[in-house]
Amino acid sequence: MKQYLKHHEWQIIEEGFDPHVNKISESIFSIGNGRMGQRANFEEDYSGETLRGSYVAGVYYPDKTRVGWWKNGYPEYFAKVLNAPNWIGIHISIDNHKLDLAKCKVEDFRRVLDMKVGLLSRSFTATFPDGKRVKVESKRFCSMAQGEIGAIRYALTPLNFSSKTTIGIYVDADVVNMDSNYDEKFWEEVYKEATPGRAVVTAQTKKTFFHVTTGMKYFIQSEGKNVDFERFNIEVREKFAGNVLQLDLQEGKEIVIYKYAAVLSSENHPKDQLVSACDNVLFDASVKGFDKLFEEHARVWTHKWEECDITIDGDVAAQQGIRFNIFQLTQTYTGEDERLNIGPKGFTGEKYGGSTYWDTEAYCLPFYLSTAEEKVARNLLVYRYKHLPKAIENARKLGFKDGAAFYPFVTMNGEECHNEWEITFEEIHRTSAMAYAIRDYINYTGDQTYLSQYGLEVLIGIARFWAQRVNWSTDKNKYVILGVTGPNEYENNVNNNWYTNYLGAWTLRFANDAVEYVKKSDPKRFEEIVRVTNFNDVQETQNWKKISENMYYPHDPNRGVILQQDGFLDKELIAVKDLDPKDRPLNQKWSWDRILRSCFIKQADVLQGIYLFEDDFDLDTIKRNFDFYEPMTVHESSLSPCVHVILASKLGYKEKAYELYLRTARLDLDDYNNDTEDGCHITSMAGTWMSVVKGFGGMKIKDGKLHFSPYTPDQWKSYSFRLEFRGRVLKIKISKSGTETILESGDPLEIVMDGKVISLK
Ligand code: BGC
Repeated sequence: MKQYLKHHEWQIIEEGFDPHVNKISESIFSIGNGRMGQRANFEEDYSGETLRGSYVAGVYYPDKTRVGWWKNGYPEYFAKVLNAPNWIGIHISIDNHKLDLAKCKVEDFRRVLDMKVGLLSRSFTATFPDGKRVKVESKRFCSMAQGEIGAIRYALTPLNFSSKTTIGIYVDADVVNMDSNYDEKFWEEVYKEATPGRAVVTAQTKKTFFHVTTGMKYFIQSEGKNVDFERFNIEVREKFAGNVLQLDLQEGKEIVIYKYAAVLSSENHPKDQLVSACDNVLFDASVKGFDKLFEEHARVWTHKWEECDITIDGDVAAQQGIRFNIFQLTQTYTGEDERLNIGPKGFTGEKYGGSTYWDTEAYCLPFYLSTAEEKVARNLLVYRYKHLPKAIENARKLGFKDGAAFYPFVTMNGEECHNEWEITFEEIHRTSAMAYAIRDYINYTGDQTYLSQYGLEVLIGIARFWAQRVNWSTDKNKYVILGVTGPNEYENNVNNNWYTNYLGAWTLRFANDAVEYVKKSDPKRFEEIVRVTNFNDVQETQNWKKISENMYYPHDPNRGVILQQDGFLDKELIAVKDLDPKDRPLNQKWSWDRILRSCFIKQADVLQGIYLFEDDFDLDTIKRNFDFYEPMTVHESSLSPCVHVILASKLGYKEKAYELYLRTARLDLDDYNNDTEDGCHITSMAGTWMSVVKGFGGMKIKDGKLHFSPYTPDQWKSYSFRLEFRGRVLKIKISKSGTETILESGDPLEIVMDGKVISLK
């Protein structure tokens, strides 16, 4: 854990330059706009430890699978969102000394991320080896108003000298991925051109042939007037285009470089028109100028914050934490493009390849459902609908048939990318997260038509998968599910993981209800679905009913708890608090064999199921299971604490809830897991949001109604959040003296507050 950032309600502030935390800061101060994103790298050259990272949503490369022991059914590749061409670069040299913070003496360093307006700023003074001192102030943003634009204002002042300086301004596609299986470079040059004041490079990804055109235009001004250059050169080399200028710096006189960048991909433009489209974007950007572009960008942020802000009064660290999480979620996914999804690291790093996991459906969806217009969450669902044919193909590759759909654990285009047998083949519960997301969407929006339009086809596919994946145990006289990994990945190849069996049976019931609903409400569409899916309505639904009614669920009658899986009680049951702290985290300190034999739980498993279906269990059952499982849980997945916050809150375990909340809210800001330098934990950020709204606020949807059972953590005075629900917008303010609920817009609504029905007008 590292606590080097200043606490502030709206800003993330780093003061003083410490190269040892630079990579962590590069992740934390990342900026993006849903279409592209950027780690907080320096504009100027930096020879110290850095991960230069720019990412363009949807542009990926299928890196050939690397695996020790090949197993049939493994995917051929792992799709990764690529480190894309660098558009921020500005090279500065003074008398042949490069401005490089690893080589200069750095003072007054300050890096600030203003989350209110999505602006990254940095200032410092640097002393070169020959004693010359410069002051630099830079500002940069990725426009939320125009997703293809990035803008930089870079101000340089010589403090104790007048001299010639060389400035190189460029775009560079010669970038490498940190995450690469065979140390390959993934970009090939297609086109490059530099003219005075402008440079463009088009690069294409190998194999997938995405084209990305990155262009820039710049102006250099002093006291508001364009500066004359003494010398000017075009610089082009492989995958690189820029201008090199020489100009006179006058002591004490600031020069300002305005660099406008355009990043366009062939996902959104015909390949042969990319360069001209790029020039148009650059032209518009430069005509508007930095201030106007920024104003438009900041206006979008203001609107976003109106929709999704959470305020916390009385605890600045907590306020900063929750806003940071919301900021990152909002700039990672804007929901405008149904081809895009949410990588676990967003645009802040390369780990997890920027691909889509079950995290989206199980963790992120409620945030977008509650804080953005309906289409944002809907697009996440449509994304999976579009992948249905691939999910059917994935299932077929593993030996399933007749339209069974097995959604991948990790994917970019619907194909499975993950290649560890215990996850790829065994962590099968993820396919039902897609079904749960459909239920969630309908619960929040009340929009049942989704079922006939898209949902039912998906549900039929998934239900078919479960119907084929179970087998009848004559010994147990029940259906069982063998050889699986539950959400707790510290157990592999177990039989009857309760969570998996529960989700499987629930999906079969939900699919049956959906069949009934569509059949009645839209018979024409139903017939079409029957035809398209070759659905044997009567026979299949009867089979699903039989399986769901006869599913086996392991439990321990003596303790009155659900069993995580068959045989769980054979383990030596030890509490995490009795572990030697030197053994933590287990995944770094213990052999896999030792982890598998132990009782320790990586992330919510039984409790994940109870959280998803909390109304299926009475409070005593929830308490017994929480008291049994939480003490054995090491929370070594960032997805774990939030689920426990929600259940602990329900049980009145306020201290436990707050302790776990802190682990999720400031996970990256305080580098709790020592891994923020790889990128931020974007999907767990949605868990932080859930911790406040569903945990402390006790929000849930039951029988189509919003329920709350709020309390205020002791450390806070009050807090508030907003929710979109079935066409209404509600603001809920909770303090120790009571709860105020305001219906800000939409028709009157009945909600249930602490068990009492209230009418809101
Ligand atoms: C968790 C998975 C999760 C993945 C990506 C893993 O550590 O165990 O549940 O899907 O990280 O966030």
